[in-house]
Amino acid sequence: MSRLGFKNYYLQGGDWGSLIVVNLVRLWPEQVLGVHLNMVGIMPFSTFKCASIHFMGSIFPSLFFSSPNVGPDHNAIEIFKRFTIETGYLHIQATRPDTVGTSLNDSPIGLAAYILEKFSVWTNLKENRGFQDGALTKKFTLDELLTIVMVYWVNGNIVNSQRFYREFFLDTRHMHLDSHYVSIPVAHASGLNEYFDRNPVELSRCQLNITHYNEYYFGHFAAFEEPKILAQDVFDFVKSLH
Ligand SMILES: *[C@@H]1O[C@H](CO)[C@@H](O)[C@H](O)[C@H]1NC(C)=O
Repeated sequence: MSRLGFKNYYLQGGDWGSLIVVNLVRLWPEQVLGVHLNMVGIMPFSTFKCASIHFMGSIFPSLFFSSPNVGPDHNAIEIFKRFTIETGYLHIQATRPDTVGTSLNDSPIGLAAYILEKFSVWTNLKENRGFQDGALTKKFTLDELLTIVMVYWVNGNIVNSQRFYREFFLDTRHMHLDSHYVSIPVAHASGLNEYFDRNPVELSRCQLNITHYNEYYFGHFAAFEEPKILAQDVFDFVKSLH
């Protein structure tokens, strides 16, 4: 950003982007004016206070969490269960990325299946699993989905995208960064169908200065699924800072 000539800027991110932009803030806090996230991956056990809220909140959600959308399934066992059934890909990519990667680079059908399955279940895990076609075209057109697959196919870059996981977990520098509180304003547009960040905002506040929080009916690929809603939330957040 400095080389492009921007002294100050806002950041937006979801998925890996949310980790990347939050770490950018931790490294260059004086340059970033605000961060907008549509996924918040937090470590609830970062502080004693936070771990206590996490634990007590899982027993009495309505006493600790303001959102009516935090239900009885917010507890360590259910979170672990959800995480386990949906993260086989993560384990493979974090340990043996090239094995599956070379096969996918060799098969357009395999590549499409591997990628599009994510667009089905991560858009709405509870509902889309029940459909034979994964309800893929409920939110996206086949052309849009094929465009995404083609980006990987034409560039042959599925292997790189998978090896990223292995390199991330091998490199422990981010663990040190994780413990730094982010005091600049942070917005969270929380997707109610998002698989990975059903953390109550009270827990996200253990690590981030969340000044703007809204919940929406979208899933993991918010910018793709509901671009207008997400963009509006970004603009509202930036306006709220002036
Ligand atoms: C959060 O950000 C607001 C707006 O910049 C600021 O006034 C407040 O002091 C910050 N809070 C914390 C805990 O850093």
